[in-house]
Amino acid sequence: MAKITYQHPDGTETVVEVAAPNTVMRGAKLNNIEGIVAQCGGSAQCGTCHVYIDEGNTLPLPEMHEAEDDVLCGTAAERRPTSRLSCQLPVSEAIDGLIVHLPTTQI
Ligand code: FES
Repeated sequence: MAKITYQHPDGTETVVEVAAPNTVMRGAKLNNIEGIVAQCGGSAQCGTCHVYIDEGNTLPLPEMHEAEDDVLCGTAAERRPTSRLSCQLPVSEAIDGLIVHLPTTQI
């Protein structure tokens, strides 16, 4: 279980507890958090689960693989150094307290 904060583009935050082995994307969908579309269901193909990891993050996240890197080149909102696909971020106690920022659009 991990506490995940989803910060919306207007600065408001939604904080939820997400159980392993979900992903950060799945945690948003399970909690009806707007701003994560996830059209492909988590297979790193659509880019509509794009998030920005908080710049102050010190929690361990998996390395970005090539497919994720490719998809992030075509997201609707600008790609930043902190961009990740939330479907490729597995939830575990190690990322308890993670903050992700939602882009202004996913489509
Ligand atoms: S849900 Fe499609 S890339 Fe993450």
